[in-house]
Amino acid sequence: MSDRIRVAVVGYGAIGRHHARNLNELNEEVDFVGVVDASKNALAAAAELGYPTFQTLDEAVALGLDAVVLSLPTALHFEYAVGCIDLGLAVLVEKPIAMTSEQGAEIIERARAKGVPLMIGYVERFNPAVVALRDFIRAGGLGEIYGISARRVGTMPARIQDANVLIDIGVHDIDMAAFLLASDLELLAAQGGRAMLNDRVDYAFLALQGRGVPIHIESNWITPVKAREVFVTGANGICHVDCVTQSTRFAAAREFPAVSTFEGVVDQYKTGEFVTLTVEKEEPLRRELRAFFAGIRTGELPPPEISLVSLRIAEQATAMIDARTAQLAGK
Ligand SMILES: NC(=O)c1ccc[n+]([C@@H]2O[C@H](COP(=O)([O-])OP(=O)(O)OC[C@H]3O[C@@H](n4cnc5c(N)ncnc54)[C@H](O)[C@@H]3O)[C@@H](O)[C@H]2O)c1
Repeated sequence: MSDRIRVAVVGYGAIGRHHARNLNELNEEVDFVGVVDASKNALAAAAELGYPTFQTLDEAVALGLDAVVLSLPTALHFEYAVGCIDLGLAVLVEKPIAMTSEQGAEIIERARAKGVPLMIGYVERFNPAVVALRDFIRAGGLGEIYGISARRVGTMPARIQDANVLIDIGVHDIDMAAFLLASDLELLAAQGGRAMLNDRVDYAFLALQGRGVPIHIESNWITPVKAREVFVTGANGICHVDCVTQSTRFAAAREFPAVSTFEGVVDQYKTGEFVTLTVEKEEPLRRELRAFFAGIRTGELPPPEISLVSLRIAEQATAMIDARTAQLAGK
């Protein structure tokens, strides 16, 4: 491979177009070969922005590729990841690595056997606000950690036809908890069900633990107001991160003096003591792509197995929810 990495995006949908934009702008580091998509509309949208387009991966491969970004529907990750690994291409596959952890483990095994760089796109690991929280925890800013509570809720994206809410978005927060605690995780309980979809779990509440720290995760596609946030409570206070706006705030533990008027109660409730921690804001996806290319060059990428932790927990939680639903229905 020459110094410049030749890379294509496969799947120009909701996330693929952000990969393409970033790759196009990272042109001092990589050669963006273009966009592969099976949809004519997707290719037309890419062509409008001046990106070279290909109906099949073979056409892009024929031009010479070193790496691919796979931003296809999750059900296609396995087939395409394995195909690209067999061609010797470095692969950045969007999260989750595949529809099942079994398929994910096979992708990892094949990449290792072939000596091909493989990374899974857990973008929150590259979110400056989440990294600032991780660093604050590591530096002892929160003292002993007593709990993590994450919410990723919103409406159902109609385009997602394969994965359930835990496999599609729950994995982000499970992975984030593992990242914040630098720990493996254990699922303790899962509740949820199918509120608006018949064929897949679309709301879930999980209880987990990692290093003895309680973790609560709420994931759903049934909330009309979008949220991507996490609270971490420790002996020294509490941190809050909004993953989208990249704000990381800390409120130190404090006494609440007694108040004797109703206005005083309301006032005390409103007066937050949050201070905003410094976050050098940057698009997380761009940082993720840069880390991928740096990893290809240095041979040092995060172990892909970490992506199986969140996927296995999402699978276990789905099975628990389905079993409970069946039990409640008297099946
Ligand atoms: N990291 C994140 O924050 C994030 C955000 C969104 C999606 N994702 C992940 O990215 C993946 C894609 O999600 P999305 O929301 O962009 O989906 P999408 O449906 O919007 O896009 C998928 C694209 O793949 C194309 N496609 C389908 N079959 C194809 C084939 N056989 N060959 C070539 N192209 C094909 C479709 O035409 C479409 O343009 C999913 O695995 C999802 O979990 C990650």
